[in-house]
Order: sequence, then structure tokens, then C-alpha cells
Amino acid sequence: MSQKTYKVLKDAESRALIDNETYEKWYEQSIKDPETFWDKHGKRIDWFKPYTKVKNTSFEGNVDIKWFEDGLTNVSYNCIDRHLEKRGDQVAIIWEGDNPYDDKKITYRELYDHVCRLANVMKSNGVKKGDRVTIYMPMIPEAAYAMLACTRIGAVHSIVFGGFSPDALAGRISDCESTFVITADEGLRGGKKVPLKHNTDLAIKIAERDDVVVKKVLVVQRTAGKIEWFDERDIWYHEAMATAEPDCPPAEMNAEDPLFILYTSGSTGKPKGVLHTTAGYLVFTSMTHEYVFDYHDGDIYWCTADVGWVTGHSYIVYGPLANGATTLMFEGVPNYPTPSRFWDVIDKHQVNIFYTAPTAIRALMGAGDDHVKKTARTSLRTLGSVGEPINPEAWEWYYNVVGDNRCPVVDTWWQTETGGIMISPLPGVTTLKPGSATRPFFGVSPQLVDNDGDVLEGTASGNLCMIDSWPGQMRTVYGDHERFIQTYFSTYKGKYFTGDGCRRDEDGYYWITGRVDDVINVSGHRMGTAEVESALVSHDSVSEAAVVGYPHDLKGQGIYCYITLMQGQEGDDALRKALVNHVRHEIGPIASPDKIQFSPGLPKTRSGKIMRRILRKIAEDDFGALGDTSTLADPGVVDDLIENRQNKK
Ligand code: PRX
Repeated sequence: MSQKTYKVLKDAESRALIDNETYEKWYEQSIKDPETFWDKHGKRIDWFKPYTKVKNTSFEGNVDIKWFEDGLTNVSYNCIDRHLEKRGDQVAIIWEGDNPYDDKKITYRELYDHVCRLANVMKSNGVKKGDRVTIYMPMIPEAAYAMLACTRIGAVHSIVFGGFSPDALAGRISDCESTFVITADEGLRGGKKVPLKHNTDLAIKIAERDDVVVKKVLVVQRTAGKIEWFDERDIWYHEAMATAEPDCPPAEMNAEDPLFILYTSGSTGKPKGVLHTTAGYLVFTSMTHEYVFDYHDGDIYWCTADVGWVTGHSYIVYGPLANGATTLMFEGVPNYPTPSRFWDVIDKHQVNIFYTAPTAIRALMGAGDDHVKKTARTSLRTLGSVGEPINPEAWEWYYNVVGDNRCPVVDTWWQTETGGIMISPLPGVTTLKPGSATRPFFGVSPQLVDNDGDVLEGTASGNLCMIDSWPGQMRTVYGDHERFIQTYFSTYKGKYFTGDGCRRDEDGYYWITGRVDDVINVSGHRMGTAEVESALVSHDSVSEAAVVGYPHDLKGQGIYCYITLMQGQEGDDALRKALVNHVRHEIGPIASPDKIQFSPGLPKTRSGKIMRRILRKIAEDDFGALGDTSTLADPGVVDDLIENRQNKK
């Protein structure tokens, strides 16, 4: 691993909001006296009724997490209304369409109008405080309006990424019993259409099997493509908005009222509904947005994530808008129409802060420097990375080629569960090491433990835990608090376990090494191997499946599937193709298997447990490190697996 360091750049240092001494001082206070620290910073948002209690959290027993618990506020008020006086005519959202000729700008005043009207449309269609609203949308401004309109009336949104299949959408609709869906006729990405309304129609039928009946579907017209229409249920967005009232008072929400649910994959079972609440989340996302990106008034800020993931929630919509920023929303993909697209957009809109994922950086690095160098990028000041470990080569390329050695790179480590950025450099403050997320943000208390839970001090490698709460933390798994406790607080008692492995170096810098559970990270998208396995075994030909991750040059990790077929089935390329399609159909294209190896047996212990460690090593081509195989029920299985490893080098 590279141990090269990059000293703080003079320009960045002179611009930075705080200096290193302040970081150290604030950090110490935030850990030793979180009450005082967050009492001060809780005031960065506006309150209808101020809080008197700051922190009331426990990682023991029933795991109860409350921040600012007696305060009243509203998220849309904080993201819109409070800015109107000073920046009503400032652009809130720059939208860049899939097609480079398609863009628009929405001011804060216009945002207010859209959000209020939409909130009224939802109210008049029966949506009430606490109701769950599913959003299945392309990257268009209406997705942000929908999120903010929910928060305005106290409805809880559940966004489902537009790349998920009807089955995956249905599962999420039924789990939170959502009866109102907002979607679009079709999405548009890289010139290709995505049948969102059609998928929604199918999902609604599937959800009905669980007795969840969607009553209304609000449809934004994006492509004017042909769709089926159900008069009783479907509503055109533009028609409803045209006649809606233009003002809607923000609901007074308790700090701990639910804000949104976001489904994410874990090591077992179906995806969990991660629940975030109102005030702590907004305080944490707005504060991290400001300090981690060194955001200054007037900056143009662009996060390339999709609103279907937590990064889109926290760092396209809530954090930036709470700070009165101009946030850029991009509908397309990095390489359409050419691999210069990101850099063209940066020049076109004079972007100052750019936040993307290592998988995109690697892909664009592979396309060659010319695509970058023919653009100016002089507006850029801060570069960010998120979603997976960034390999030092990609980091260096990002820093040297994209940023012309002028812009600090902030490698931000966090999770859907953490709500906001947890470990990251601060621009102009932190000495950088390519590949390291460096140091914890204020209020974040990392600890490394070994597999027995013993605390590791100093330079060490272990499992990454947090020993105290921070305001942006998830509060529960929707509808299943026991699963919340089991998943995050039972492996190491009294600690939040992240599921990640991590090394701490001699400077106290953190290096995330990746998941230590059965979760894999494919192009920055989190995938439970159990989910892919259950999709595979639902195919008629499959008797048993075991899925592991393996190193992949572009995606970070690829999906490797070991499959035992039903008797009499032939494992050939046609079946491989059919299985890939089956998984795409069950979960979505992001779960497409990269490699499928047919095998008459899987390595199991005598008690029948699949030894994934061995399967991971074989997928990694690391045959020398298989460890002890003598405890296997049939050690011969391993030789066969090695012999037949798919695409052997
Ligand atoms: O393994 C870590 C990896 O992504 C996981 C969280 O995935 P998700 O909940 O989908 O959220 C992604 C966006 C916040 C983590 O457990 N991860 C995320 N950021 C980094 C990372 N791994 C290394 N370095 C990062 N900067």
C-alpha cells in the first residue's frame, strides 16, 4: 500500500474554514463532551421549538438513540424557506440532462413553489404525516421535489434506485406498506430508456400478493414514451401540479420523527429498511457537507451519485440544500456521449467541488488522459471519493490528472447506516495519503477490535467499530428493531459494528480494507451475497449456489457464483446466460453475475456449512492460501473447484 503523503496545499490551507489546530481541539471536545459540542452545532439548523436535551443514546440493551429529542423543526423548511430572504433568486439545483444540450436551473424560490405544490398534491391524494411514500425516479429535479415535499408534510420517503427490478421494487413497497408511489414514464441514461412506469405497474401487482395495495401513482412525464394507464390509480404529475395550491406550511416535526427509509443489503436475509430521523441527520449531513468539502457560500457543488443511494440523499439533496448551496444533479452516465462528459460538465457549469466514486474514476482513467486534458477544469477546488476503497493508482490519477495537483482529494468513508461522512480528510487541513480515509470527523469515535472483541490500540488491523453515537446515525431497521440490535450491536457488545475491516497506521490514519462480512461492493453498490444466492436458487435448474466477491479491475469487486445444478442439468454457456438474465430480472442489472462456475459439489464442513473462505480464495486465484481443508466433508471437492475455475489464467 502506498505510504506517500501529500502535504496540505497552500491555497487550500489559506481558504480552509478551519485549521489543523482547530480540528484537533474541536475533535477532542466532540468526543469528551459531545453534549456541549453538539449543543453548539445543533443550532446550525433552524428550530420551531429549540431543543433542551442534546444527546440521549445507548448502545446497550434495547439500543436507544435520540438526539435533540424535544426540539421541533422541519427539513424542507431548513432546505428551502429559511434561504428565501437572502437567496431566493440563487440557483438551488442545476440539472444536467442525459443529453448534453438538455439542462435547467431552479432557483430557491422556484424550488419552494415546486415543493409546496407537490406537497399539496400529495395531501389532496390522502398522504398524511407518517405515511410511507415510495419514490422510483430517474435523476430529474422532480426526484428532489418529491423528497422535499414528503419532508414538508412529514411523510416518510423510501427511494428505490431506478436500476432495481420490479421484484426488488415490490419487496420494498410491501416491507414498508407504502400505498403512494412517485415515478416517471421512463428514465433516460446514456441514451437508453428505462421503463420505470412499466416496472412500477408490475411491482404493484407483485406487492398485492402481500396484501399491500398501492392506491395512487404519480407519474412525471420525462420521455413521453408509451405507457399503460390506469385511470383510477394513475395521476399525471404535470396536470396535478398545474392546479395545486402554491403554498403549503411545513409540518412541525419532532427531532426524532422518521425522515426516510432506505433499503440496503446486509450479510443475511432480504434488504433492511435503514431508518433515519429528522434533526440529527440534517445537522450531521449539513455539517459534514460544509467541512469535508470546505464548502463556501457561492460554490457550485456536484455529487455524481444517484438519489437512489444514500450519497444522493445526504450529499445531493439534504446536506447541500440545508447549507443554501447550488447543487448539480446529473441524469446521465460518465461516458456518454464521450468519456469527457464529467469534465465537460465541470467546465460548462464551473463546478468547484466534485464528488464521485472510485469505479467511475477507474473507468475514466482507462479511457485515457486526453479526454481529461482537453478540458480546462480550472474551476475545480476540491475532489471527493466515496463508496469503496480507492486504490492509490486511481487516487494519484484523480489528484494529478483531474485535479492538476491543485485540489485536495477527500476520500470519504461512511455507510447508509451512518447517514453522513464519518472518516475523511478535511481540505486544507489534513495531510493526505492516497488510499487512506485518514481521520475521523467530529463526534466520530472509531475503535478497532480483533475477532474476539479485544480492543486494538495504536498501529493495528482489525474490525471497525464505533463506540459512541453521532447525530446522523440510523435509529432502527424499519419494523424490526431486534434485527437492528442483532445486526449492528451484538457482534461486539455495546459497540456499533460497521462490517468493515480497517488498519490504523502510525499517524492514527484509518485505511479501510473492505467488508469482513458476506457483503460485497460492486462498483460502489452494496450487495448481499445471500440475495444473489437466493435469486440463483429460485431458478429451476439450480440446486445450490454460493456467491463471493473477487477483485475486479473496474468494479472493485465482481460477483463470482458457484453453482450446483439439479440432476440431469447441463452446465453450459447458454445456461450461464440464462442465469445472468434471471438474476437481473430478480434484483436488477447491478447484481449481474460476472462469473459462473458449475460444480458438482461445494466445500462444506461436516455439519453442512459452506466454507466461503475457500471459495473466496479460489475466486481470487489464491490457491496456495486455502488453509486447512481437512475438516471438509469431502476434501476432493476443492481439487475439482480449482481444476474447473472459470476463465483460469
Ligand atoms: O465497505 C464500505 C464501503 O461501502 C460500504 C457502505 O456502503 P453503502 O451503505 O452502500 O454506502 C456507500 C456510500 C456511503 C462501507 O461499509 N465504503 C464506502 N466508502 C468507502 C468505503 N470503503 C472504503 N473507502 C471509502 N471511502
